[in-house]
Amino acid sequence: MTSQARPIRIHQPRRVEYGTGTAAEIGAWARDQGFTRILVLTQAVVAPMLDRLALPGHVTVFDGVEPEPDTTNLDAALAAARAAAPDLVVGFGGGSVMDMAKLVTVLRGGQMLADVVGPNRVTGRQNALALVPTTAGTGSEAGIRALVTDAATLNKLAVESPFLLADMVAMDPALTMSVPRAVTAATGIDAMAHCVEAFTNRKAHPLIDGFARMGIALVAANLPRAVADGSDADARAALLLGAYYGGICLGPVNTAAGHALAYPLGTRLKLPHGLANAIIFPHVLAFNQPVAPEKTAEIAAALGLDPANLLAEASRWCRALGVEMRLSAQGATEADLPGWAAEAHAIRRLMDNNPRDMSVEDVLQIYRAAL
Ligand SMILES: NC(=O)c1ccc[n+]([C@@H]2O[C@H](COP(=O)([O-])OP(=O)(O)OC[C@H]3O[C@@H](n4cnc5c(N)ncnc54)[C@H](O)[C@@H]3O)[C@@H](O)[C@H]2O)c1
Ligand SMILES: [Fe+2]
Repeated sequence: MTSQARPIRIHQPRRVEYGTGTAAEIGAWARDQGFTRILVLTQAVVAPMLDRLALPGHVTVFDGVEPEPDTTNLDAALAAARAAAPDLVVGFGGGSVMDMAKLVTVLRGGQMLADVVGPNRVTGRQNALALVPTTAGTGSEAGIRALVTDAATLNKLAVESPFLLADMVAMDPALTMSVPRAVTAATGIDAMAHCVEAFTNRKAHPLIDGFARMGIALVAANLPRAVADGSDADARAALLLGAYYGGICLGPVNTAAGHALAYPLGTRLKLPHGLANAIIFPHVLAFNQPVAPEKTAEIAAALGLDPANLLAEASRWCRALGVEMRLSAQGATEADLPGWAAEAHAIRRLMDNNPRDMSVEDVLQIYRAAL
């Protein structure tokens, strides 16, 4: 079978609204659907914008979702969901919030988290789900995965199921105007990393390559603009779309070594997901270059980088966005690195996707180069 004809399955939300002011479509849709008990998961920083959803009926707000939530935080959200007994759950926030809304939706009925981790183990769900991103990064609104940190082991647990797919998504760039510069940069590079890691993936597929190319072009052209001027509405809108395309890339192809290496930095060093990925991004891009020269050249061209000097150039691109790229400046020490390298190397669900085999020693060398 040619690689063009290889079967692939893509899930997308049932309905997607995109553009300024579309947040209000959530309320109109909820009214049309006859939902009367709505639970909103969110965070205090974005909760003041909630009225833009124009939600009808009885609305309960749980604003205690933590950035990079763990299982303890999930338990609190689940308790709130069981008390509220909603017919609609709305995730209103960044990836942290949207992933919690997805998990609450499928766990309320009684399945335990341990029983649903991995692909296709969820058996059903109890409420409709609407997702409204307020960062332009994870693309979680597009997809069938949700992540939560195990409070005991600090491993990131990934649940994957079509039951995690949103019935309704509103991508309203007006909601992202307040994202601080550093978060804009880090989440934007995360979106870029989703596209790049899917594009150069061992499981790369022409259907996904198209989305990846669009996402790479949008983020490359607009992230520097949004970082320079957070009120640039066109750049904010373009980034939201780029993040969505990255989310589509995550579905059937997913990320690879970049995200695997970023995970210990998130869970052990407590770096935000986007920042951890930004620090790793140039290193894995350059590491994979020898086995994916054409696609890497396309990525370099979109970013305006010289492919002959990719590690330095891509690092410079990230630094120009204000990202502190040195792990040591984030609190890491040489002694931390071997343990993280073993941990990252063991995340086979992602490492096995990488187009070039990466040994534990390779991972350690990357961490050392990033220190
Ligand atoms: N489901 C997926 O497919 C997927 C993909 C990638 C990442 N993730 C997960 O998503 C999480 C990270 O999500 P994220 O990068 O969006 O970060 P986040 O949701 O933690 O948000 C980052 C920070 O920005 C703040 N914030 C959010 N919106 C804001 C706004 N409009 N104005 C001002 N501040 C705002 C948040 O309060 C937080 O402090 C991680 O847990 C990661 O594992 C999931
Ligand atoms: Fe990511």
